Amino acid sequence: MERTFIAVKPDGVQRGLCGDIMKRFEQRGFRLVAAKFIQASEEHMKNHYLDLKDMPFYGGLCKYMSSGPVFAMVWEGQSIVKLARMMMGETNPADSKPGSIRGDLCVNIGRNIIHGSDTLENAQREIGLWFKAEEFVSYTPCAQAFLYE
Ligand code: RTP
Ligand code: MG
Repeated sequence: MERTFIAVKPDGVQRGLCGDIMKRFEQRGFRLVAAKFIQASEEHMKNHYLDLKDMPFYGGLCKYMSSGPVFAMVWEGQSIVKLARMMMGETNPADSKPGSIRGDLCVNIGRNIIHGSDTLENAQREIGLWFKAEEFVSYTPCAQAFLYE
């Protein structure tokens, strides 16, 4: 089992898309293990997007991501890091296929409504950055035996 960090960005929250996004992960059969609705500081977002610090859009991105509440989640499932990225679509919604989250719900690269970890290593780093150990819940979904052989 893998875990990944997913966040509905401020634009997705303002547009009322948290439910739609959660629904897709639920319906795929992934398990929610932690979640919170918070407004992150700019410092926190700078740390979150540290890999992009040399990119021209880094400052604006971090400022934007801290401008309003985000819905931060940790989801668990088989191959979830890769599968969540596929569900999200491409970074630029213009390159995202219909059926993907970005391909269905947004049009602009700077307002692409969802974040998802891009590698297992980054997922672990991001989960640690956003959640404390006591914020995770432990439970077995009743459909578990029908999702995995
Ligand atoms: P994210 O981290 O937010 O899930 O997005 P991503 O992996 O698909 O893309 P990434 O390269 O990590 O970039 C982070 C966010 O920066 C904005 N961006 N703007 N103007 C540009 O060329 C540009 N490139 C990236 C996007 O909002 C992207 O989601
Ligand atoms: Mg990224």
